[in-house]
Amino acid sequence: MHSFRYVQGRLHAESVDLGHLAEKHGTPLYVYSSATIRDHFTRLDGALDRLDHLICYAVKANSNLAVLNVIASMGGGFDIVSGGELFRVVRAGGKASNCTFAGVGKTRSEIEYALREGIYCFNAESEAELRFINEIAGELGKRAPVAVRVNPNVDAKTHAKITTGKKENKFGIDFDRIAEVYATIAAECPHLEIKGLQMHIGSQLTSVEPFVEAVTKVVPLVRQMKEDHGLKFFSIGGGLGIVYKNSLDSGSADWWSREGNESHPLTIQAYADAVVPLLEPLGLRILFEPGRFMVGNAGALVTKVLFEKKGSAKDFVIVDAGMNDLIRPTLYEGWHQVTPVEKPVSTETHKADVVGPICETGDFLAQDRDLPPVKEGDYLAVLSSGAYGFSMASNYNSRPLAAEVLVDGKEAHLVRERQTLDDLIRGEHLPI
Ligand SMILES: Cc1ncc(COP(=O)(O)O)c(C=O)c1O
Repeated sequence: MHSFRYVQGRLHAESVDLGHLAEKHGTPLYVYSSATIRDHFTRLDGALDRLDHLICYAVKANSNLAVLNVIASMGGGFDIVSGGELFRVVRAGGKASNCTFAGVGKTRSEIEYALREGIYCFNAESEAELRFINEIAGELGKRAPVAVRVNPNVDAKTHAKITTGKKENKFGIDFDRIAEVYATIAAECPHLEIKGLQMHIGSQLTSVEPFVEAVTKVVPLVRQMKEDHGLKFFSIGGGLGIVYKNSLDSGSADWWSREGNESHPLTIQAYADAVVPLLEPLGLRILFEPGRFMVGNAGALVTKVLFEKKGSAKDFVIVDAGMNDLIRPTLYEGWHQVTPVEKPVSTETHKADVVGPICETGDFLAQDRDLPPVKEGDYLAVLSSGAYGFSMASNYNSRPLAAEVLVDGKEAHLVRERQTLDDLIRGEHLPI
């Protein structure tokens, strides 16, 4: 479920009016619902309860401290990809000992930091990286817990830019070489403790088949590595897709139980029903690394209409949020429902592009969309933008980063202040 709905004609996050938040904190403004995040965590956790498991939330999806704190308070672990993400987790009250560290290019200082903090495991993506971690652990007089990321060469059937488990992708080590790599590190890397095996085939998967294909392919390898090297865990990564199309209508309480729902063929129960029986016989701890599923539908980007412009080929609604605030539409052809904060009274619509102020043709939030009549000063909400929204935002065109608010019932907390112009140039110097 999610917690964005119209109450007496005004769009609310839980019990808080998005228009009031926009008046108070300005726009563009990211608003997150803590109830939605908790609900998603609880549902996934419940669906997996037959397994000894740990949900390691993928911090990259939304790394606001307050969001991480919600996950930590639910007992979640974290999947991190940088020293910066580890720093955030620790600051947010998360445990380093529940963190897995992924990514193809970890640096010396990041590895040292993670070893000092005592993370759960490094998910290593190459032999060179494994040897590098071994060397650094030796220097620090430690043994580094490691898992190897396997690239199973399975097509996740998602957007090419978020497919990660095919052999032409940069991620992981080829399936056929995994046994040899474990044997080599066991023989030659005394400062590594072989702890697990990991995979992640892609993001925004909307059917269960690629998960099943990948797990079915990798499970025999996991079993063999458990026997040969005493593996403790298997991580099957993240990737659970969410509803983007008309997600406002999909927010009802029974959303996840509606099997075969066309807009969301992959329900959490269908996912669990498919993968749990394959994983249970392994007798290992199973890790899950959902990012988008936890926070995607828990966030909305509120923006203000600046101008309307009629062109000879298209009409444009120009708003104060741009691709620097939400890059998904232009980067991944991401589709987000855009809806006015004040519920339209008529059913009249007209087609327009919703575009931002950035000087790029690719700066759009929605294209060829049937929108209700809007006027200057109206607030629009770009839904399902809690994942890969703010965390991918930039200062392009020297635009300050948006503010973020976390709602909890009737309460709304400003969890990130809007950047100021001074913030924009912090750390810069004239060459004198
Ligand atoms: C290693 C790893 N795990 C988990 C995730 C989270 O993916 P999602 O947000 O689709 O669940 C990612 C995303 O890129 C990833 O690279």
